[in-house]
Amino acid sequence: MKGLILAAGHGTRLRPLTYTRPKPVIRVAGRPIIAYAVDNLTRVGVREIGVVVSPKTKEEVAAALNGEQSARFTFIVQEDPQGLAHAVRVARDWLGDDPFLMYLGDNLFENGIGDLVAAFQKEKPSAALALVEVKDPRQFGVAVVEDGRIVRLVEKPQEPPSNLAIAGVYAFTPEIHAMIEDLKPSARGEYEITDAIQKLIDAGKPVLGVRVQGWWKDTGRPADLLEANRLLLAQLEPRLEGTVEGGQVVGPVVIEAGARVKNSRVLGPALIAAGAVIEDAYVGPYTAVGPEAVVKDAEVEYSILEARSRLEGVSIHGSLLGVGAEVKRHDRRPRTPSLILGDLSRVEVPD
Ligand code: G1P
Repeated sequence: MKGLILAAGHGTRLRPLTYTRPKPVIRVAGRPIIAYAVDNLTRVGVREIGVVVSPKTKEEVAAALNGEQSARFTFIVQEDPQGLAHAVRVARDWLGDDPFLMYLGDNLFENGIGDLVAAFQKEKPSAALALVEVKDPRQFGVAVVEDGRIVRLVEKPQEPPSNLAIAGVYAFTPEIHAMIEDLKPSARGEYEITDAIQKLIDAGKPVLGVRVQGWWKDTGRPADLLEANRLLLAQLEPRLEGTVEGGQVVGPVVIEAGARVKNSRVLGPALIAAGAVIEDAYVGPYTAVGPEAVVKDAEVEYSILEARSRLEGVSIHGSLLGVGAEVKRHDRRPRTPSLILGDLSRVEVPD
């Protein structure tokens, strides 16, 4: 079985972070999001993975997977993202007539995709979809299930016919390709995989719905990244490889080799990546400090600090700092913030 990871999207809801870097390479709990997709695919025995990228995302996505030995990667360029079914069409030649697992590169699953693959292999349907109960299904594809079979699918319905959202992983037989060939674009102008699967159902082919056990996260918005970071940090095995001098390290904390923690309080779950420096500071629960980032005379909780970012003399919570971003105190007058923000950056200050 082949794997197909879709990683060509523009990640518009995560701007400005995605102006400079594609969403699948943003680090959550210390690893690029796409690395978790690769883990889940290789855990179910997939050894050949096609990664659909855009001309803009190709290089960085390939760099994020560089050194990953568990599978062989082929990068497939989708010039213009026109929907999930379009991505499968672009990968058609590479997929050949093999069954495949399509995995949306920004989705995270607590317990992997083993249940979906087991059901697909045991019951041999034309397709199997991971489903999850959600409070507000309007932002997802929604499935109506009868006796384990999906009987109807709707993409982002205003009035959802059920509370079962399609989570971002799909198992397909090559039958899906014929459904995509003469597919019409949807109202939002995209070739929807949901519509292609509905055609399978209309042709009387069996399509299974398999419930996801444990949490599932689609990391579309900044708040989702912070939540995903929290959930993944909670799974980390504590490890102390760097140096700790004075202060206190409490709870599940990973301090990677080459990281230095000095006169600071680190309260887990937290991760301090290689080469990071924490000095006279507090790093609180659910924080991932990236490689070579600096937290000095500062406090941070429930946040992601990317590589080489810097936090000095300030306290933050629920924040995302991109690569090399800096937040620091100044002692000049007027005592007001001085900001240099890229397009679509966001700053919230207390009263
Ligand atoms: C896509 C699919 C949708 C699915 C969702 C899961 O939507 O079209 O059916 O529920 O992924 O993440 P998108 O996130 O591309 O809008």
